[in-house]
Amino acid sequence: MNTFRYAVAAGALSLALGSSPAMADPSKDASMLKLAASSGCTVCHSVEPAKNADGRTPVGPPWRDVAARYYGVKDAQKQLVQTVMKGSNPYDSHWKGKAAGLAMPPNAVAINEADASKLVGWILSMDVR
Ligand code: HEC
Repeated sequence: MNTFRYAVAAGALSLALGSSPAMADPSKDASMLKLAASSGCTVCHSVEPAKNADGRTPVGPPWRDVAARYYGVKDAQKQLVQTVMKGSNPYDSHWKGKAAGLAMPPNAVAINEADASKLVGWILSMDVR
């Protein structure tokens, strides 16, 4: 009985702190959102697709859409880190019609590869069900 009560209390605590790995919503991860903002990503990207937009297409694809597109794709992590660092190919756009920007510029001026890798891993971890 005591054990049961302890388990319930622990569950409530981790809910309150939002720190249970099984329950946390990665898209709300404050440290990742901060890194994205300080690296300049959020000038062009948001996490969620614009809800009831003013009709404008965002410059870069919303990251929830990126997570959905690359869900289960082999090597997505590696490839996307390279794209983030070196920029995308304007002649081979992956988001034609879904993003207003023609291409993503190289971000290597603003972020190192380790941090880019963290951000991409975070983006790909977003729940897309
Ligand atoms: C100046 C605007 C801009 C900035 C700043 C920017 N992006 Fe992008 N991003 C884009 C555009 C435009 C695309 C779509 C490219 C395409 O159509 O292939 C894109 C695509 C992406 C993709 C998907 C690439 C693919 O091949 O599908 C990821 C992941 C991404 N960005 C992450 C980031 C991260 C992380 C940062 C910050 C370090 C960042 N972006 C900064 C404009 C930007």
